[in-house]
Amino acid sequence: MIIREREPLNLEMPFGSLSDFITPVDHFFVRSHFSIPQIDVKAWQLCIEGAVQTPLKLTWDDLTEMESQTIPVTLECAGNGRAFLSPQVSGAQWERGAVSNAEWTGVPLSEILRMAGVTASASEVILEGADEGEIKESPKPAGKNRYARSMPLKKATGDVLLVFKMNGENLTPAHGFPVRAIVPGWYGMASVKWLTRIIVSHRPFNGYFQTIDYAYWERGPGGPTLVPITEMQVKAQISRPGFAEAVKDGETYRICGAAWTSGTGIAKVEVSVDGGATWQQATLLGETVRNAWQMWEYYWHVPPVCGKATVMARATDSKGRTQPVERDKDRDGYIVNHILPIEITVR
Ligand code: MTE
Repeated sequence: MIIREREPLNLEMPFGSLSDFITPVDHFFVRSHFSIPQIDVKAWQLCIEGAVQTPLKLTWDDLTEMESQTIPVTLECAGNGRAFLSPQVSGAQWERGAVSNAEWTGVPLSEILRMAGVTASASEVILEGADEGEIKESPKPAGKNRYARSMPLKKATGDVLLVFKMNGENLTPAHGFPVRAIVPGWYGMASVKWLTRIIVSHRPFNGYFQTIDYAYWERGPGGPTLVPITEMQVKAQISRPGFAEAVKDGETYRICGAAWTSGTGIAKVEVSVDGGATWQQATLLGETVRNAWQMWEYYWHVPPVCGKATVMARATDSKGRTQPVERDKDRDGYIVNHILPIEITVR
């Protein structure tokens, strides 16, 4: 793993090592804002409160004995790829590896909300983690702050899972033990780890990680407004070749990677080996699974011409959305999904 920060722990997957649909737990990127909380699972409880008829306190046994589902879901940190932005932006300098794909086992959040009985006025669900700390950059609230994020009730009663297993094993402390949320199709910041409280609310949540952090400017009447980041945007990443790699003239070279989007599957991935002048269709590998990445490959017959070459990939999803060429500057250091050229040498 590439260590971006030791405390709090921030680890990047070396994306060049991508080989399988499922990322092993020890290669799955880690993104934390505060120290990993030490949680005694025997004492741990998940409180469901706020705009509900019956507030609940669930234990580990309560949750793990309920009927569960297992689904593959890709998590991409909203800051993945920001190291390639120019001019440089602040924040952890993630390259291509703040994205991974695992198989998650858990209980639908909709079932827990059904048990608690959401009141008619409820509109949002806030998820709160056990981790807390002081935020370093202004504007910031005074003192300690907990990691919390919200989503509209419609999403919370949709496909969100409260997860206790990752690739068939209990979650590791870094990935949210004992229980975390998995919010399919949304950037990773929504999938709150170390869950302790679920608060059903009848008004919009404007917490730090909802408004100041993990928000972007959306143009509208009256000027740009800050909007919380939600859905992942369509994107293909190249795992091979790596930057500045040398390939042999005349060889057949396998260009490959993964592509993902939100709420649907990838329809096609195209590859260019001439800096975007022409595009060829890559082969999609394996099944198309909603909200999980799709592996792809393209065999390139490298021409017998030595010199520099620029390799690019672009994805289109089944809703017809294609990766943009240009960066949308209103996104600041987040939602980096424009096409990333990889310069290589043909020798
Ligand atoms: N949940 C808590 N409680 N604290 C955090 O710092 N980081 C979020 C999210 N959930 C975070 C959290 C962010 S920004 C991302 S991208 C994902 O967790 C990363 O999940 P992972 O570390 O399992 O890859």
